Amino acid sequence: MPEWIKVGTLSDIPRLGARTVDTHQGQVAVFRTNEDEVFALFNKCPHKGGPLSEGIVSGKVVVCPLHNWTIDLVSGEATAPDEGCTRPVAARLVEGEIYLSLPPLPEGEGRGEGELSGHRNHLPLTRPSATLSLKGEGI
Ligand code: FES
Repeated sequence: MPEWIKVGTLSDIPRLGARTVDTHQGQVAVFRTNEDEVFALFNKCPHKGGPLSEGIVSGKVVVCPLHNWTIDLVSGEATAPDEGCTRPVAARLVEGEIYLSLPPLPEGEGRGEGELSGHRNHLPLTRPSATLSLKGEGI
């Protein structure tokens, strides 16, 4: 049974924008569309790992900021002629609050199904640019 963890509220994410959440499986980008739908993908472009959270959201796709591949927010698939897929993360919006459930890890890897790091009840959404500046400082 999937575990749903609250990561923030719809108002934490600007329309056509994204925020990130750090999990034990890697960083997840949470996107908000112009229609106030919420989708989540691991924050790595299937091309060369670009930060999708820094991309431009249009409809139900995000355009990677590095080389402009277009990634479907629902499936994580790159749009043809490009090929590749970043793993989607189940996202749910309940009365303005955003919940995520990670996909199960491949067998033999890491911890239990759907578990989001050591924080049991809540993980904070952060701005993508804040995350990048922290990396730049060697943290
Ligand atoms: S890393 Fe995303 S298009 Fe190249």
